[in-house]
Amino acid sequence: MTSDNRQVIAVADPAELAKIAAERLIARIAANAGRAAICLTGGSSPKQLYQLLATEPCRGRIPWDRVHWFIGDERFVPADDPLNNMSMARRIFLDRCAPASNIHPIPTDTAHPDDPDGSAERYERELKSFYGAEALGPARPLFDLVLMGVGHDGHTASLFPGCPAVEETARWVVGVPRANVEPFVPRVTLTLPALGSCREMLFGAAGDDKRAILTRVFAGEDLPANRARAAGETVWLVDQAAFPEHVRGR
Ligand code: 6PG
Repeated sequence: MTSDNRQVIAVADPAELAKIAAERLIARIAANAGRAAICLTGGSSPKQLYQLLATEPCRGRIPWDRVHWFIGDERFVPADDPLNNMSMARRIFLDRCAPASNIHPIPTDTAHPDDPDGSAERYERELKSFYGAEALGPARPLFDLVLMGVGHDGHTASLFPGCPAVEETARWVVGVPRANVEPFVPRVTLTLPALGSCREMLFGAAGDDKRAILTRVFAGEDLPANRARAAGETVWLVDQAAFPEHVRGR
């Protein structure tokens, strides 16, 4: 199904979702002969994909030396906390596969644990230095691929409905003092312009507990997950259990 500059691909189950996501990620890296940049996502949905990337044959198909790994949002907890998004990705695949200098976590170890803004500023500086410019140019996206998930309230990354971060147009990264959903810790999130500066934005949603929110997303409701669009392609991989009835019937 293609509509509104968004492609929705139905997949059988989480295993197939992970396989297709891995193929798309590998293809995006292959399409860039130089330094590739991938923005990862947190939550539980991408774990199967991350396991696949660390396993042959995927592992051997990724030119690890020239791929840089970022994260779209972070829970404001120390790096060794099990809730930390980048730590989850490190544990599952990055620490075994990627050179340490190619892993770009959002810094959360700070003297001011209640103020994620300083960490947001530091990450924005890191992204700008990686990109080599202070402003994002439409012809040269920041990321080759941005992975995304969707929460039951329609949030994506840590962009929660009604939160000022969703409206941000200038900053690349902002602090979010309160999360709408568990875990209720402050967050640091890339903004819609930074996340959207990519060749492909790839959402993954699986399981029947995603069906209600996908019904709202595909009905075009004004939700952060709907506002998130790539400069290039926006693709949603949705498994059978998550697929809303009215979309399935088309
Ligand atoms: C986070 C995420 C968040 C996530 C969605 C979906 O920090 O929690 O980055 O945006 O993608 O909440 O989470 P699940 O994959 O766990 O359903």
